[in-house]
Amino acid sequence: MDIEKPLHNDNFMHGLGANERALLEKIPLLPLRKLAAGMVRAKMRVQFTGWLQYLLPLIFIVTLSLLALVSHLLKISFLASIFSALGLLLGIVALIDLVTVKFKLRFPESLPQRNNDLNLFDLMRARHSCRSFQTRKLTEADHSELMESVSKYLAEPKIGKSPIRFEYISAPLTVWPVVNATEFLVAIAPAAYNRLSVIDVGRSLQKVVMDATRMGLGTCWIGPGADHASIKQQLGKRFNPEKDHIICVLGVGYKSNYIPLFIRIFNRQMSTNRLPLSELFFADSTFTTPLDVDATPFNSFGRNYEICQWSPSSYNGQTTRCAAVTDEKGALKSFDFYAATASQYYAPVALGIWAANWEMGCAALGLQGHFTVRTEEENEALPRYDLSWH
Ligand SMILES: Cc1cc2nc3c(=O)[nH]c(=O)nc-3n(C[C@H](O)[C@H](O)[C@H](O)COP(=O)(O)O)c2cc1C
Repeated sequence: MDIEKPLHNDNFMHGLGANERALLEKIPLLPLRKLAAGMVRAKMRVQFTGWLQYLLPLIFIVTLSLLALVSHLLKISFLASIFSALGLLLGIVALIDLVTVKFKLRFPESLPQRNNDLNLFDLMRARHSCRSFQTRKLTEADHSELMESVSKYLAEPKIGKSPIRFEYISAPLTVWPVVNATEFLVAIAPAAYNRLSVIDVGRSLQKVVMDATRMGLGTCWIGPGADHASIKQQLGKRFNPEKDHIICVLGVGYKSNYIPLFIRIFNRQMSTNRLPLSELFFADSTFTTPLDVDATPFNSFGRNYEICQWSPSSYNGQTTRCAAVTDEKGALKSFDFYAATASQYYAPVALGIWAANWEMGCAALGLQGHFTVRTEEENEALPRYDLSWH
């Protein structure tokens, strides 16, 4: 058995994102972990060329062709026919994806309908990440409505004290695995790390996302899949490396029905599953007793639990937890929000998104409240306390 170095000394993981590190750290043997890290790096290089989405089916086509060949050599003709047919079918789909999505040879698509008729809770459930966009730019009217929403939420009071901002870019940034996104909001916080500012990014940008969803626009939060070099190049003088830190970007535009097979599979994997409420909301800060969301007084928060549960999070990591705090008579004092992982960026962004959904849900239900931070609870133990709603 290999003797392992402490994980934090693993230099070969340098430069990899928190999600990749978390996955690699699950590999028990050091040589295997190093090999996997090399493969992840190679994948990252190819993914930012914008070709990986179209190359991945090739692996399956080659595998099916080899299986067909072996079956043919072994004279198992029915298997050879099945593998050949599957390989051919996949080849045709991959070719159609390449022509319609990569080379954009396709019929024009119509503008989507607005979602004015949906209540807030249904609107939040209707939102899912859009990973294939139409080739048209936002109309002038939609662009100005979006930018009004940006100004509105940036002007709202923040939880942290440091300023954040969202810069608009109209350019085909290299992002993964999203295709044909050409308009983005780049979320920027101060270079000096401040956790509350990162939470503010999640909270304010999620409110913009909900306005965009109301307008019928598709959105996709992009963190690990964003190539920072291309973003900085597009921002030019709007980015100061000494003062600014890019937290993530939001791709925004009109959803396309031309979705490459790989992205259809990716969407299905990432969008459709959420942890049950019993693993997200707790009746105690030791996270042992699930909160009975149907019991008084918690039931007055209605679908708030559900809209937090269906919040977006990086790689669907679902890193936010909530504990209800009650006094000795059972009266509700606060809902405390915690991050379940040590991630410095994507966990606080996800928590900020929960905070936005919780806050907007309370407003829709006519429930008064506001966020505070109990500073005396600053500790690094997980789950890590961040915010309280009173
Ligand atoms: C901070 C953050 C970063 C994300 N980064 C990416 C990304 O790089 N690429 C991507 O395709 N999706 C990204 N997502 C979207 C998540 O994968 C998605 O929200 C999650 O899988 C849930 O799916 P849904 O948004 O469709 O409900 C990100 C989401 C968040 C909140």
